[in-house]
Amino acid sequence: MSDERLETLQEIGTAFARTRAPEPDAPMPAQPTLSDIFNLRLNTPKFGLPIAAAAHCTQSATAALNAGLDEETVLACLLHDIGLAVVRPDHGWWGAQLVEPYVSEKVSWAIRYHQALRYYADESVGYAYPQMYVKMFGEDYRPPDYIAAAHEHARQHQWYMHARSITLFDDYSFEKNPTWSVEPFTDIIGRHFRQPKAGLGNDASPTAHMWRTLIDPSKPL
Ligand SMILES: [Fe+2]
Ligand SMILES: [Fe+2]
Repeated sequence: MSDERLETLQEIGTAFARTRAPEPDAPMPAQPTLSDIFNLRLNTPKFGLPIAAAAHCTQSATAALNAGLDEETVLACLLHDIGLAVVRPDHGWWGAQLVEPYVSEKVSWAIRYHQALRYYADESVGYAYPQMYVKMFGEDYRPPDYIAAAHEHARQHQWYMHARSITLFDDYSFEKNPTWSVEPFTDIIGRHFRQPKAGLGNDASPTAHMWRTLIDPSKPL
């Protein structure tokens, strides 16, 4: 092997070596459950966001529970931003796909479409365009075509209100340092989230690799 090629391979190896996490990830149990994911992986803010996904999602699910919403909608609120634990862009789609093997179609549908519905007011249920988005995107912002199309599709759908309910409890769930716990939702998770016996990331589901990425984000390959 030429010296140049060897050097290139060594360079690639160095680049691929385990990147040091800003803070080491807490050890996970061998068979991680959804509660473990909340407590050990969604518990700190990521991607420059000011609030941890678990803190925001539990606030929004608590509000839905207090409003007397059905259990599947409460679960959808609890999981609505779980996609943000993997990546920021299109978190609705990512989150829905991540949980799809374990929840009803209605729950994953609501998670997928909440992202698009956030951009569109619905005065009939008291949902206004978020001030946060004016700040993020500017006064005259128009969402891209695929968001507009997803919104149109969701509006006509029989499950529209399930996704819309997520947006209702989303905007009021940004208290930065709340005391939160996933414990009040244990029974709802038990009834509506098919926890794999082998643990998330260890089963052969089509999204096991996504859970493994969430669990160990600094793995070299
Ligand atoms: Fe969201
Ligand atoms: Fe949210």
